[in-house]
Amino acid sequence: MSDHIKITRAGGILTLILDRPDKKNALTDAMYKALADAIEAAQTDAEIHVILLRGEGEMFTSGNDVKEFAAVAMGGAPLHHVARFLHAIATASKPLVAAVQGRAIGVGTTMLLHFDHVVLADNTTLSTPFVNLALVPEAASSLLLPARIGHLRAFAMFALGDPVAAHEAVAWGLANKVVPPAELIATAEAFAARLAAQPLGALVATKRLMRDTPAVLARIDLEAAQFVECLKSADAREAFMAFAERRAPHFHK
Ligand code: COA
Repeated sequence: MSDHIKITRAGGILTLILDRPDKKNALTDAMYKALADAIEAAQTDAEIHVILLRGEGEMFTSGNDVKEFAAVAMGGAPLHHVARFLHAIATASKPLVAAVQGRAIGVGTTMLLHFDHVVLADNTTLSTPFVNLALVPEAASSLLLPARIGHLRAFAMFALGDPVAAHEAVAWGLANKVVPPAELIATAEAFAARLAAQPLGALVATKRLMRDTPAVLARIDLEAAQFVECLKSADAREAFMAFAERRAPHFHK
């Protein structure tokens, strides 16, 4: 359980809500656990046909909690549930729908590559500033993002962390549509309700046919090994310290 994940269910839709708006919905290991538990349980829950994810507040999520990254970098316990969450979304047999507003940073963007329908508020930006933190991409995004938008755009997103605006994200195939913020939740819920009314067996089989899950899981594990190495680097520790001290990092030349 996490105080920062709200869960509701109605009409065949399981709704998961990131609810840590004072920290821009930064994701802690406890939040990953609650999300992974819910997504895993939904796979065998006959009443649930669709999973909808959204975030409270001005921002979908600012990505992984940087303070938890810093704790691992200083020799603390590894974050156990990040990998469980990534595996859960990569292997989810039931459709995943996301409603995204404000910023979606890091895993906030890479997780969307595993979703089957993504609605963006018109104030949304997507960004993957892993290298800015001296880290590498995760969630199989080193495989899925270039496949989706091409190597050149993906490399620019990873290497520089520049944000991609909502309309550009739709044009690049990262999302389905852009709506005014006030219409975001209703639009995503309406699409989820349409999916929930479809025959579940055919829906699940179609999704399975469209995704190369073994390749995705293999890439998640490959990235994780590199990510852990990077987390321990002096540059990463400097990046986390700089975030805490609200200053620009000074990386090794
Ligand atoms: N991890 C931990 N805490 C975070 C966070 C994160 N990813 N994102 C925001 N927060 C916290 C801030 O530390 C701050 O906490 P405080 O009130 O105790 O000082 C609070 O949330 C509000 O954030 P703040 O930075 O004051 O808001 P802002 O509107 O000026 O900036 C962001 C918002 C998201 C641009 C900025 O917080 C940011 O860059 N966050 C880090 C994003 C990131 O690098 N994520 C990891 C990607 S791999």
